[in-house]
Amino acid sequence: MNTDIIILAAGQGSRMRSELPKVLHKIGGKVMVQHVIDQANKLEISHAATTHIVVGHKSALVEDSLADQNIIFVLQKEQLGTGHAVAMAVENISDDGISLILYGDVPLTQSVTLQQLVEIAKGDQFGLLTVTLENPRGYGRIVRSATGEVTAIVEHKDASPKQLAICEVNTGIMAVPNKFLRRWIGQLGNDNAQGEYYLTDIIAMAAADSVDVITCSPEAPQEVQGVNDKVQLAQLERFYQQQQAHQLMLAGATLADPSRIDIRGKVTINGEVNIDVNVIFEGEVVLGGGVQIAANCIIKDSVIGDNSLIKANSMIEQSVIGDNCEVGPFARLRPATELGDRAKVGNFVETKKTIIGAGSKVSHLTYLGDALIGTEVNIGAGTITCNYDGVNKFQTEIGDGAFIGSNSALVAPLKIGAGATVGAGSTISKEVPANQLVVARGRQVIFKDWQRPVKK
Ligand code: UD1
Ligand code: CA
Repeated sequence: MNTDIIILAAGQGSRMRSELPKVLHKIGGKVMVQHVIDQANKLEISHAATTHIVVGHKSALVEDSLADQNIIFVLQKEQLGTGHAVAMAVENISDDGISLILYGDVPLTQSVTLQQLVEIAKGDQFGLLTVTLENPRGYGRIVRSATGEVTAIVEHKDASPKQLAICEVNTGIMAVPNKFLRRWIGQLGNDNAQGEYYLTDIIAMAAADSVDVITCSPEAPQEVQGVNDKVQLAQLERFYQQQQAHQLMLAGATLADPSRIDIRGKVTINGEVNIDVNVIFEGEVVLGGGVQIAANCIIKDSVIGDNSLIKANSMIEQSVIGDNCEVGPFARLRPATELGDRAKVGNFVETKKTIIGAGSKVSHLTYLGDALIGTEVNIGAGTITCNYDGVNKFQTEIGDGAFIGSNSALVAPLKIGAGATVGAGSTISKEVPANQLVVARGRQVIFKDWQRPVKK
């Protein structure tokens, strides 16, 4: 049996006051509609699932941001209501399967919640997700018979005073056997307060056709909260971050303050780790056991080995850090940096496309770009690899055990042999043989009879 996932994402979302279509705003670094797709993809479905996304407002932008995902995009040129939106997709659904209807601006519904609805629809019944709210204003109300069966949904604007007192509301999320959905969608009209084709009218049709409407509810109300403006966007972001922090703590992370960590992607920990306040993770980050991250670090798409210490205010991007390393404070590791075990990169050091061997130290005020540095090397304060001639970039290679004196300029392409020593303040532009001392700077001169000028 095929499952059709229909995601409504045609609306403009004018209350967002944004150039960006609403469903492309992000929660946890991921666009909202992608959250919806990802949860749907987690469903345990015995047969194939087809994802249909109904797009309208700025549809090209939405389609571009979801490229390469095997999605059928259906254009709803004019937004004539949720029922009209589903009608656009219904042409493409399978005959005997079921449809799960989701919303691009309701990003945090969990797959376990959706699974319940899918199971109901598989049993030839109507699965409807409802929630009971203290303040149901604006939502469609769930109308039940004296014996408790759902008989209709009435939109807020169409509701009688008695119906307005109902606190159980429609989340909009439902699963319906396709044979019924097709028929009912074809019968929708728009004779109501908003002149729209209401998807919710199919509930009364189900009742009339004696198809049972079975309701279920999410674990947390935030799961079905929609985003209409940036206040709600920020509320859901916080809820999402709280959940991420909880998961991380349950996996063994000690967080100085779970409300001051931001995970915009995925963090995997391989043991107990310690994370101080205001740390931001982006993309995919893997932390080894015993890792400690001090305050205010930003770590993106990187792997940090066991027992390494990242000191405050460091930025690490697309880098691989070995075991027992020390980075920061105020270090900036740019893409393609690799640190061997026990390496140390200290304050105000910037690296890019640089491999630093095990046990090597770059402790202060240095720029290393396009560099290949051996093991147990010491790079003095203020060393710069001059890797760029204004057009092309060149590599610097430094052998094992070399010692680079402070304030050296290393003009690439350049090789410095193993065990070589570079005198402080040198500008090195030619190969340095292994185990030699090289000094390339003006000699110190003392001017014997020199006197300071006197004022005339
Ligand atoms: C809808 C439900 C209401 C429910 C509420 C939950 C209907 C008639 N009402 O009301 O019972 O309580 O959601 O939040 O279904 N959309 C389209 N094309 C359209 C119209 C809407 O794609 O022509 C999309 C919107 O982009 C949005 C979603 O459908 O993502 C819901 O539309 P919206 O107008 O916000 O519905 P509500 O009035 O909130
Ligand atoms: Ca509406």
